[in-house]
Amino acid sequence: MLKLLLASRNPDKIAELRDLLAGLEVQLVSLLDYPTLPETLEDRDILAGNAGKKALEAAQGTGLTCLADDTGLFIDALEGAPGVRAARFAGESCSYKDNRDKALRLLSGVQNRQAEFRTCVVLAAPDGIISIQEGRMPGSITTSERGSNGFGYDSIFAPEGSKLTYAELTDAEKNLISHRGRALRLMLPVLQDLITLA
Ligand code: IMP
Repeated sequence: MLKLLLASRNPDKIAELRDLLAGLEVQLVSLLDYPTLPETLEDRDILAGNAGKKALEAAQGTGLTCLADDTGLFIDALEGAPGVRAARFAGESCSYKDNRDKALRLLSGVQNRQAEFRTCVVLAAPDGIISIQEGRMPGSITTSERGSNGFGYDSIFAPEGSKLTYAELTDAEKNLISHRGRALRLMLPVLQDLITLA
């Protein structure tokens, strides 16, 4: 059976990726199972650069096929910030809540709340990248936090066409429409091919 390494140490992200890949006949492991592997420096300006770096370094460090995801939140009124720097928007070692508070503070009194989540997923083997896919979900930043499910910016992001935030949806409802769900569904046929060949 193909052993697929999810190149992340973020338990929230790993849980979503596991849900989205649940139908595949693969053995899923994550970087939490490889604690001594060095952390990838996410220093690229585009999501594909960071996701590609994470996938390749993990593949070369373990010899496994790896799937990495890099996500950004692009807020129109902030000229695309936090963008690829979504994790450290409020500073090094800040919390999810620090980041949400900063976004709400910067948008206080601002009419244009339009934003977009983008996820790039990269599948790589030790000898190179196999596939790159992107998923996007437009939406808006709410004026206050709503909902308690989810992580990161979920409680301040209402996807287009919904009055609810990601954090007010169930996991299954979020996965059906989310940026990560869209990217992963584009990757599924590639993974299915790999499984058939393995
Ligand atoms: P990363 O660089 O891909 O790890 O993600 C950057 C940051 O974006 C994370 O630290 C979270 O704060 C946020 N983020 C990533 N995915 C999601 C999501 O699905 N919902 C809400 N926030 C997210």
